[in-house]
Amino acid sequence: MVRKRARRLKRFREESERVKDADMFKIVEEVFDSITMGFIYRLESRKVLRELKGAISSGKESRVYWAKGWKGEDLAVKIYLTETSDFKKSIRKYIEGDPRFEGIFETNFRRLIYEWAKKEYRNLKRMYESGVRVPRPIAFAGNVLVMEFIGEEGYRAPLLVEVAGELEVEEFKAIYLDLKTQIETLVCKASLVHADLSEYNVMIFDGKPWIIDVSQAVDLEHPRSMEFLERDLLNVHRFFSDYINVEPLEELRGVVLKCLEVRV
Ligand SMILES: Nc1ncnc2c1ncn2[C@@H]1O[C@H](COP(=O)(O)OP(=O)(O)O)[C@@H](O)[C@H]1O
Ligand SMILES: [Mg+2]
Repeated sequence: MVRKRARRLKRFREESERVKDADMFKIVEEVFDSITMGFIYRLESRKVLRELKGAISSGKESRVYWAKGWKGEDLAVKIYLTETSDFKKSIRKYIEGDPRFEGIFETNFRRLIYEWAKKEYRNLKRMYESGVRVPRPIAFAGNVLVMEFIGEEGYRAPLLVEVAGELEVEEFKAIYLDLKTQIETLVCKASLVHADLSEYNVMIFDGKPWIIDVSQAVDLEHPRSMEFLERDLLNVHRFFSDYINVEPLEELRGVVLKCLEVRV
């Protein structure tokens, strides 16, 4: 089983591209404006970051890089782009109703992005401290967030969606069970709803699910938290039922919401 997993990881590594240094510099110039560079330098002088290595992912709203820390450890650095209007649109719905963002939305978008990076850091911290399996948050400055690297030797672990086709039923079952516990802990102990949970925001490392991408997670007090939770559960249920037998959605909902009944 372990050997098979290692083989699978190797294959995944061979398929995934690592960005060459020359390309990296192009990306660096394109992404890092001087203010962002300032935050990166600040993290270097605080002895958090030592070296930015290759790019891991480039989304519409952020880029993720593999980096090295001062003890030689691998780190993941997520840098939010400060110049995208799609981002503005997509985060509006999570922000309305949240007093932390009142008044700053239209007036200062850059500041909003900083708040957003800080929110991801805080959400990660709250989840991590409650026992949810997420990358350990390490630091943030402006639009730059530093966290534990999920993977090995600069190769990130695969997303659930990327390994699904190769998992055996037993492995799938174990991951599903584990993920349910993660969601329960997230809701019941951290009092948060992920709000963008799917096979694209779960990494599989050491045969276990790691929840990532938590900037949009909201407190249970958020007016739309139950709607977001319902959507998360639906995504998870829909995905797993394509591969293994899972309980009906109502039952899954029951497991996760059990702790909330007591609170009401
Ligand atoms: N801590 C991490 N360690 C390794 N890779 C990561 C880490 N966090 C994110 N990634 C990689 O970067 C990708 C994008 O990160 P994510 O937080 O999902 O941002 P977004 O989906 O908003 O672009 C992920 O799909 C994953 O491949
Ligand atoms: Mg994501």
